Amino acid sequence: MAERTVTVTDNTSGRQIELPIRRSVQGPDAVDIGRFFRELGYFTYDPGFLSTASCHSTLTYLDGEQGQLMYRGYPIEQLAVKSSFLEVAYLMMYGELPTGKQLEDFTHIIVHHSMINEALKSFFRGFYHDAHPMAIMVGVVGSLSAFYHDSTDINNASHREIAAHRMIAKMPTIAAASYKHSIGEPQVYPVNSLSYTGNLLHMMFSIPCEEYVVDPVAEQALDLIFILHIDHEQNASTSTVRLAGSSGANPFACIASGIAALWGPAHGGANEAVLTMLNEIGDVKNIPGFLARAKDKKDPFRLMGFGHRVYKNYDPRARIIREMCHKVLSQLGDANDPMFELALRLEEIALNDDYFIERKLYPNVDFYSGLIYKALGIPTNMFTVMFAIARTVGWVAQWMEMIGEENQRIGRPRQLYVGPTQRDYVPIDRR
Ligand code: CMC
Repeated sequence: MAERTVTVTDNTSGRQIELPIRRSVQGPDAVDIGRFFRELGYFTYDPGFLSTASCHSTLTYLDGEQGQLMYRGYPIEQLAVKSSFLEVAYLMMYGELPTGKQLEDFTHIIVHHSMINEALKSFFRGFYHDAHPMAIMVGVVGSLSAFYHDSTDINNASHREIAAHRMIAKMPTIAAASYKHSIGEPQVYPVNSLSYTGNLLHMMFSIPCEEYVVDPVAEQALDLIFILHIDHEQNASTSTVRLAGSSGANPFACIASGIAALWGPAHGGANEAVLTMLNEIGDVKNIPGFLARAKDKKDPFRLMGFGHRVYKNYDPRARIIREMCHKVLSQLGDANDPMFELALRLEEIALNDDYFIERKLYPNVDFYSGLIYKALGIPTNMFTVMFAIARTVGWVAQWMEMIGEENQRIGRPRQLYVGPTQRDYVPIDRR
């Protein structure tokens, strides 16, 4: 088949160039604009990357119009009910679902990397007790770059793999230690016989003086939420990790940069913001007032947990989580939790409101995840940390994919300069 191209005409100079179209396996193809500047002398301008593919990837596909999400070709609905977090982590890292033996070996490796260096304890102690756990995560995960000198050659595939295993393995331990620090309790060591999410619950909620039994419903719910959060193509935090990694930076430092980007309320911080918002709304009778605020362009208030850059349909993850939310609340929490009632009502009212219909604003993954976390006893300021633990798998897989590419180059966006043109320095006494 002849190469498909797009012809661009510069109406000022009359010059014309033909740009090749790169084929995607699914979803829109992309015009390759790599020669654009060289041949036409223009940059392209696309703030927020509304039309720009920053890389090619084999990891995750999402169709925003259909509300479809797949990891390595497997629909999220199937993975959510049939697999475990570590099984999907393997899939993301290695491209195929593991055999029983491969999963056993992978689990063994992750479990045996879950302890953190004792020296890290002093890092936690250095944080004031009311430090936000995400702030601690950024600092402590970044500090791992100072510990593992045996696996920092990013050009060596086995170094990259060891670093990836360590990051996935240590994230729950660091997260739980951040939490324990914030409540003044001793850090709890991981237990190798527990599952990935069971271990996290154990490290967060057990205390040295009492036996702690992991609740299977809580473990299952957390495993499911983690699977749903593993990857979401080139979102802000993933793009941050890729950009940081493109310079050849230390992998732990790259993941710390992803955690920082995730923290914002427009991204992973939204799950925390949803609970804060529901608390603020307080009662069903106040919903119309808050909806009016969300629609008012002069008011910065937005309905947290609603809307998505890519999904212009119900977020498939929200649909799955919504179901799990019912299960968790009926078995662990309060089935009549007024917060859940409030969330359901808010969703119903917003979904029937013209403003939200016209703009295709549907509940996203963060709308319900917070309610599950709350029922599991996870405090609000740990919600985004939970997201970070799961997303670490995606960050790591995307980072490995990028570094492993032939001709990998540093990411370096251009800009449209609109500042002052050259001017001369004026001494301070004459300004
Ligand atoms: N409440 C009220 N209006 C909204 C909302 C909302 N949550 N989201 C978008 N809009 C409006 C927005 O004002 C704009 O209206 P108009 O066209 O009249 O100017 C229109 O919808 C399009 O919004 P946008 O800001 O251009 O869309 P975006 O793709 O840049 O932003 C978003 C996507 C997720 C940042 C945004 O929908 C938002 O702020 N949502 C609330 C925060 C949230 O739930 N974030 C979690 C996202 S999912 C998990 C993750 O990615 O981490």
